[in-house]
Amino acid sequence: MTKVNGFILNAQKLLSSRARTLNPSAIREIFKYTGVGGIISLAGGYPDPNLFPYDKVKESVNAALDKYGPKMLQYSSTQGVPEFLDYLRWFMREREGCHHCDEEALMVVSASQQALSLLAQVLIDPGDIVIVEEPTYVGGLVAFRAMQARFVGVPLDEDGIRIDILEQKLRKHRAKGDPVKAIYTIPTFHNPAGYTMSIDRRRRLVELAQEYNVLIIEDDPYGYLVYEGERPPTVKSFDTGAVVIYLTTFSKTLIPGYRLGFAVGHPDIIRKMVVAKQAADLCTSAFVQYATLEYMQRGYFDEHIAKLREAYGQKLQAMLQSLEHHFSDIEGVVWSKPKGGFFVWMTLPEWVDTYEMFKYAVDAGVVYVYGSAFYPYPELGKRNTLRLNFSLPTPEQIEEGIKRLRQAYERYKADKGR
Ligand SMILES: Cc1ncc(COP(=O)(O)O)c(C=O)c1O
Repeated sequence: MTKVNGFILNAQKLLSSRARTLNPSAIREIFKYTGVGGIISLAGGYPDPNLFPYDKVKESVNAALDKYGPKMLQYSSTQGVPEFLDYLRWFMREREGCHHCDEEALMVVSASQQALSLLAQVLIDPGDIVIVEEPTYVGGLVAFRAMQARFVGVPLDEDGIRIDILEQKLRKHRAKGDPVKAIYTIPTFHNPAGYTMSIDRRRRLVELAQEYNVLIIEDDPYGYLVYEGERPPTVKSFDTGAVVIYLTTFSKTLIPGYRLGFAVGHPDIIRKMVVAKQAADLCTSAFVQYATLEYMQRGYFDEHIAKLREAYGQKLQAMLQSLEHHFSDIEGVVWSKPKGGFFVWMTLPEWVDTYEMFKYAVDAGVVYVYGSAFYPYPELGKRNTLRLNFSLPTPEQIEEGIKRLRQAYERYKADKGR
């Protein structure tokens, strides 16, 4: 029991049974090293603040205040402010080839983490199954776990989710009568793996979801951050029957401080998410919605994306070259070669446990996220994997960070007697 100003409240007794099962994410401990003198962090997933479009943000905020006045400072509709909703519907239809973006199919959210949380609330009864990629985004796991979902993992390869294994698992769980509610996927420039799902698998995924009456949750924060080749079509663009809930966010393409994103999907689901959002925060800031609308209408979105592609593309190259330089001589070491996004996924020899190796990394002055954190049941995850971020550090820090990672590996190897 924690004493507050001398008083004791038995708070534990007041917590719901659901809250008692909530635990802070294991990776929080890693972030205490971020910003600690001299340590290079390849751990987080932050955009580079030097790339934030300060001037364009200021300009669009001021212009929007002049244009929209008090509406911008007022409470607003839970679904989103009408002008921004109209714009996003147009955006999804014309630019993303979305087949159904009418009135009740689209809502604004306070960034995609909120959409995941709302989806978990409206879909999951305790024990319901969510199929997730292995590895997957920790925040997705946290949102579904909070509603006491069970997870079924499907491995990834370089072409995204293993669709053959997915089909087997769907068949097996249908035969058992299990309540499989959703398939959660990050198909483009995956967090943490960096892989991108092939077009064939995107098409097949939609067919399978229709056949098994399961929702696809397509989480797409990185799709625009493409550094090589073309941006692949979204899974949503293959979806004529509204089996996909598409989520995206302005966190990586504009600024995370706005906490702004949107969700598009079946109206029956979106309507329920709107009700759940009412309970969560009444509405997403009208200020932020009008400012972003103005920013986009001025053409700044595409202009800024072009800059991000250039700058992050260079950082990705720095990371791939450093890995080549410092790790290509070790048998059994491989890493993903993403064409966009923020992350590279690394696999070390089988005997390595990256959780154990972490303290060697801290001693060498670098941090990463150990791979087991990205598995629904970390104890069953691949312990010889880790995630590296290249969006926040400079190219020089990336090179130095990978060099230190090799030093950490060598010291760990020596201590293991390998
Ligand atoms: C795959 C994925 N989904 C969702 C989010 C949440 O982002 P936000 O809530 O800022 O939109 C992130 C953030 O890193 C992410 O990587």
